[in-house]
Amino acid sequence: MNPIRQRHVSRRAVNAGLASALAAVAVPAITVRAQDTSSGLGTLAAEKGLLFGASFAVHELDRPAGARYAEIYERDARILTSELEFKMSALRPAADVLRFDAADRLVDFALHREMKVRGHTLIWNDDLPEWIKRLSGSEAEQLLETHIMTVLERYQGRVDIWDVVNEPIGPWDRNPGNLRGGPFYAAMGEGYIAAAFKRARRFAPAAKLVLNEAQTETADANGQAFRDSLLALLKRLKDQGAPIDAVGIQSHLKTSARYDFPAFAGYLGTIAELGYDIHITELDVNDTGAPGPISARDAAVAGLYESYLGDVLKLESVKVVQLWQLADPTSWMRDPATATRMGIRSKARPLLYDDAFKRKPSWDAVQRALKAAPVRST
Ligand code: XIL
Repeated sequence: MNPIRQRHVSRRAVNAGLASALAAVAVPAITVRAQDTSSGLGTLAAEKGLLFGASFAVHELDRPAGARYAEIYERDARILTSELEFKMSALRPAADVLRFDAADRLVDFALHREMKVRGHTLIWNDDLPEWIKRLSGSEAEQLLETHIMTVLERYQGRVDIWDVVNEPIGPWDRNPGNLRGGPFYAAMGEGYIAAAFKRARRFAPAAKLVLNEAQTETADANGQAFRDSLLALLKRLKDQGAPIDAVGIQSHLKTSARYDFPAFAGYLGTIAELGYDIHITELDVNDTGAPGPISARDAAVAGLYESYLGDVLKLESVKVVQLWQLADPTSWMRDPATATRMGIRSKARPLLYDDAFKRKPSWDAVQRALKAAPVRST
């Protein structure tokens, strides 16, 4: 079927179809949860009113370790973020192509396992195919409108949370408000952000709409610039009536960076006072900047997970915690091109499972942090 013309079949229709099929023949249960999830991190988080999960990439299912990959998500995750599948580079590789196959596969994987989905991301001034960078201002504005409508209509009721705008801050571009440049900013100025959220609310009235930002966490001048710029932007967006439900804090941490997590939690409290929920969206710990034996590196990674979550989870406005993948071999830091761009020269061990998909000390650290978190009242 031509993916452009393919219409979304509602889950209810699918369920109704399945129900009649089940009535006709005796088939096993349709939910695919392969194992006991009661000891997983997602269940523990849910007991605290927290949604826990990670990013996920469907192409990992096709690798030799695909079954083990699926298993760790079935055990620990209640929500998946699309690592690549919903990006414009995946959905719109060329001007006349719209490809939903990978995104559909991710959504189906999640829904068959009763997991939620965070669609990442609708509008981002980075990671764009070349043809989008060449659009005129009015064409880029038109694309923003069309893209949000097309994607949200297709996934209506199946994607619970949308990262509507990703990484709006980029001080290096020297724009007013430290806003990141790119085709959508060039076309509409800061107005692209509120326009994207208003459009998203129109076509996904029930979804949670998120503005997701990076690099706020460090206790240094760069972190401070990101924190100040983000807070000022959120205040302006509130005045502009942008329908934002939550602020996503990416949380790509490093064992070699300087942090003040209690102060950072205080900053998140200031965002929460504006009326936003907080989602921790892309947590991982880059351990490659501080050399040492694996056991020491794993301990440092675990320590950072526990102290970061220990401080930020005290804040009841933090409602979602997601990692950027769960297992080291599938981390973006293991991708050669990404590693080069990030200046990574050794094998990173940033996540909760090792190369054999065995739990690392960081898994226990996250478990302890979730156990220590207060129960959310709503
Ligand atoms: C990254 C993916 O992990 C990589 O595989 C890809 O090459 C580039 O994008 N912040 C984000 C994510 O919001 O979309 C990025 O994902 C990681 C940083």
